[in-house]
Amino acid sequence: MKPKILFVDDEPNILDSLRLMLRSMRTVWEMNFANGGVEALALLEKNPHDVVVSDMRMPGMDGAQLLREVQAKYPETVRMILSGYSEQESVMRTVKLAHQYLSKPCRPEVLKEYILKALRLRDIIQSPDLRRLISKIEALPSLPQIYNKLMAELSNENASLKRIADIVSEDVGMSTNVLKLVNSAFFGLPIHAANVHHAVNLLGAETIRVLVLSIHLFSTLPYGELPGFSLKKLWDHCSRVSCLAKNLAKHERASMEAQDSCFIAGMLHDVGKLLLLSSLPDAYKEVVNRAQTENRRLAEVEREMLGATHAELGGYLISLWGFKDSIVEAICWHHVPEKVSLDELSPLTIVTVANAFDHELVVLSANRAQCRVEQPCIPSAGYEKKIEAWRSVCERIISQGEQDVDTGKEE
Ligand SMILES: [Fe+2]
Ligand SMILES: [Fe+2]
Repeated sequence: MKPKILFVDDEPNILDSLRLMLRSMRTVWEMNFANGGVEALALLEKNPHDVVVSDMRMPGMDGAQLLREVQAKYPETVRMILSGYSEQESVMRTVKLAHQYLSKPCRPEVLKEYILKALRLRDIIQSPDLRRLISKIEALPSLPQIYNKLMAELSNENASLKRIADIVSEDVGMSTNVLKLVNSAFFGLPIHAANVHHAVNLLGAETIRVLVLSIHLFSTLPYGELPGFSLKKLWDHCSRVSCLAKNLAKHERASMEAQDSCFIAGMLHDVGKLLLLSSLPDAYKEVVNRAQTENRRLAEVEREMLGATHAELGGYLISLWGFKDSIVEAICWHHVPEKVSLDELSPLTIVTVANAFDHELVVLSANRAQCRVEQPCIPSAGYEKKIEAWRSVCERIISQGEQDVDTGKEE
């Protein structure tokens, strides 16, 4: 069945031009066009759609109100705003509701690419319940101690952008939320952020203040932590993997852009665990328990008990939020060695290797033997030489950082 896309605008000539612009996609998508929010909701009631792309400023029901209704009634539907305006007030009303914010005029290739990107990973999450759960997520939660630190900094009259960025970059949830806003066109920023500090700088202290204090974009985990699962240790693992990934990319003389993608993908590679902890705490508690009692890989038990791994769920969310394909792939497949190719040094390969080395080089827990990265993910010419060079890079980085970290039972 063809995916169904609904375009909503109050101006008939804009709908006509969208129809014309996207006519080559008629064989791929079923496209429908609604003249305003009320007409859109009536259409959705008869025929739910996979993606809704709505204008923001419309008389009666505006884009934010429409997306709020869509989120409540059809949580699985991907929600996008395509707007000619980027005033702070209207953007702020959609930062949590819209998966992506595109600005008019939007070239047909860009619009097509964003819709395709949002649909690309739907098939890997078989369960409609899980897909619904992910599409409903408005923002990722933070560690309470980092959240409190940020609140204290923001309430300080002399809050510094550098200190705000330092705090945000300590937390995977906050980092992901901020990168989503900068990488999509929410604030009309024309470039992709290279890292969290860059993203915070692009947004500025005032916008961050409004996002945190008025929009409540950041929150703490609603149910607290699970026994036997330390988020702090997971964060430490993610920040080491991002650092290892960037340095491995640098060692391989990858471009600056590729190094930045490796860094971001390393930071976000286990974002699916955060998603599961915050959205399915009871079910995830059982998964973590079983993995620990049976001494099995977490990803394996996740698949068995939930039907998808943290890697796939995290990858799906990140793709809905419009991150680059190479970052989405790295997150989605970091537990699938068959997808890795040493001949192609993509963020996926680099992050998979960095994750494996972090588990090899950092003592995970006192009663758990360390593993050693020896088996090639995929046998490839020159693998052994390469893996030794990479081990030295990772040893150097790890010996410069903290040694007393535990990342739980993964791998
Ligand atoms: Fe993982
Ligand atoms: Fe990991």
